[in-house]
Amino acid sequence: MELVRPELFDFRGVAMTNYFTDNFDNVEKFSAKPDDILIATYPKAGTTWMSHMLDQIYFGENPETLASEPVFHRVPFMEICAPGIMTGVELIENMTSSPRLIKTHLPVQLVPKSFWEQNCRVIYVARNPKDNAVSYYHFDRMNKLQPEPGNWESFLERFKQGQMVFGSWYPHVKGWWERKQTNPRILYLFYEDLKEDTDRELGRLCEFLGVSLSEESRQRVLRAVGFQSMRENNMTNSSSVDPRVLDQKISPFLRKGMVADWKNQFSVSQSEEFDEDYQRKMKDTTLTFRMEI
Ligand code: A3P
Repeated sequence: MELVRPELFDFRGVAMTNYFTDNFDNVEKFSAKPDDILIATYPKAGTTWMSHMLDQIYFGENPETLASEPVFHRVPFMEICAPGIMTGVELIENMTSSPRLIKTHLPVQLVPKSFWEQNCRVIYVARNPKDNAVSYYHFDRMNKLQPEPGNWESFLERFKQGQMVFGSWYPHVKGWWERKQTNPRILYLFYEDLKEDTDRELGRLCEFLGVSLSEESRQRVLRAVGFQSMRENNMTNSSSVDPRVLDQKISPFLRKGMVADWKNQFSVSQSEEFDEDYQRKMKDTTLTFRMEI
């Protein structure tokens, strides 16, 4: 199997590859159930972390269930349509669990309308753009279903210009932030907060979901979602994915799991130029990020 990396193209104003648009007719027609929970993120913001946390909250009492299926099956990626695997929509439609946990990287304007009509709960996780860009770069190096990343310098320029799969980070995080202001069914979380105090954020999450965890369950969830636990867990570390697709020798899927790792990747001038561009692009929003904690 010789995988050819896809090219980016414009899809309704958002840079995309065919792996996320080929099944879009079915994505748009997708029929959500009122108790579906949508986990929405810009790629590499902590999607797998949040997916596993929700899976643990709802289904963790039964460890065999979680130990028998990788998180990317338990929490299907709605818009994916790639060679040799079931589409995200098919996976979701085959689910028998309740609630169904569903992952998406779509910007808010492309989310199928039935999620809004059904008033589904949505958890959005955002991550500061410098760490997000670094994580995305290493992911694109190891994931052959992503466009060629090139070198770091050129990747960073394209990140700033929004030439990334799922488009620009800026309208993605801002668009979801604006929607959250009028939709109380959206919980907007930050990777940095999750990292700073996972227990506190788990509490916010449970309150939003209307779930009450016993002390024992809370401790169990916290243990399960720790970076090291997820790295060692074959159901969350993507070790079952064909290495010709995800080459973990190039970079592990769960790479560092840190805040401010960007300092090891950005040069001083790259950081200064990025900050200037960031200030300009974030002028029109109340949304703020912490580049370190
Ligand atoms: P790094 O590349 O900086 O390590 P996504 O799941 O959206 O693809 O996000 C991937 C990023 O989330 C990776 O960041 C990964 O290591 C990090 N991550 C995954 N699980 C984590 C956890 N339990 N704790 C902290 N970070 C985690």
